[in-house]
Amino acid sequence: MSRPRLKVIVTRRLPKPVEKRLAEFFDVTLRDSDEPMTRTELVEAVQTCDVLVPTLNDRINSGLIGQAAERLKLIANYGAGIDHIDVHTARQNGILVSNTPDVLTDDTADMTMALILAVTRRLPDGLAKMQSGDWQGWSPTDLLGRRITGRRLGIIGMGRIGQAVATRARAFSMQIHYHDRQRLRPVVEEGIGANYWEDLDDMIAGMDVISINCPYTTESYHLMNARRLRLMKPDAVIVNTSRGELIDEGALTRMISRGAIAGAGLDVFEHRSAANPDLKPRGSVVLMPHMGSATVEGRLEMGERVVLNIKTFHDGHRPPDQVIPSMV
Ligand code: DGY
Repeated sequence: MSRPRLKVIVTRRLPKPVEKRLAEFFDVTLRDSDEPMTRTELVEAVQTCDVLVPTLNDRINSGLIGQAAERLKLIANYGAGIDHIDVHTARQNGILVSNTPDVLTDDTADMTMALILAVTRRLPDGLAKMQSGDWQGWSPTDLLGRRITGRRLGIIGMGRIGQAVATRARAFSMQIHYHDRQRLRPVVEEGIGANYWEDLDDMIAGMDVISINCPYTTESYHLMNARRLRLMKPDAVIVNTSRGELIDEGALTRMISRGAIAGAGLDVFEHRSAANPDLKPRGSVVLMPHMGSATVEGRLEMGERVVLNIKTFHDGHRPPDQVIPSMV
């Protein structure tokens, strides 16, 4: 006798092939709209499904989890970051949480490099010149950026994405430095030629480029606060492809406008769907609408991970990408 299909609710429109895959295996309710669910819709969802597939736009906090029906047993996040899910409360309520790590590592690292290059080489200024039709031909003095070869890159958070950034930056002959709560094993450190700094402040003060690649947790909120931003060299730039909450965006905006920091490449913002209105995009300030993982391949692979996590769970095993509360 075949087992009943799991009732799965997806909170956001996903790429069509992913939706098709989910429908192959589960009794899935897909979302037509590309708008995130309202609170009321989320409450209804957690009361009527076995598995919820949310995205980073949904706040799965203790209040919501408290309203979930007994039948909700798995939150299979479509995405790697799980800062929007209260994993501890979920665990206390017997609900497992899984995510989709690995498959967006390379894409996010590529975006980090793209931002580093865009900011240091002033790509937006060049683009604007071409688009305005003002370009008069090559000039020895126009649009001069800064070389990245030989410059010191300080990576904050040397997990999968941090290491992928390091590998890429090495190919650009940058010097690799990093800070993390946990030092890499010597063999890994040597493999990527990275220099460890136990003291984050000391590292920040000596870098030409800072890249934020650590997850957002209650401890890492405003990790780059005004005091730490002030430690940066005035000609240094900062790049963030992780979560906006890691930088005090107001302080960063003020420092950029008075020239205390040379530039910023931001793919994420403190208030999620909008950048600080005073943070004006220009050559040395490159703002992207959270596109770090936005590739067709990445999105499809994220879908496959979600399917695998749910199927494995349905087969009575731990989802391969289960998030353990102690990891958060
Ligand atoms: C994630 O999955 O958490 C990423 O930030 C999406 O780009």
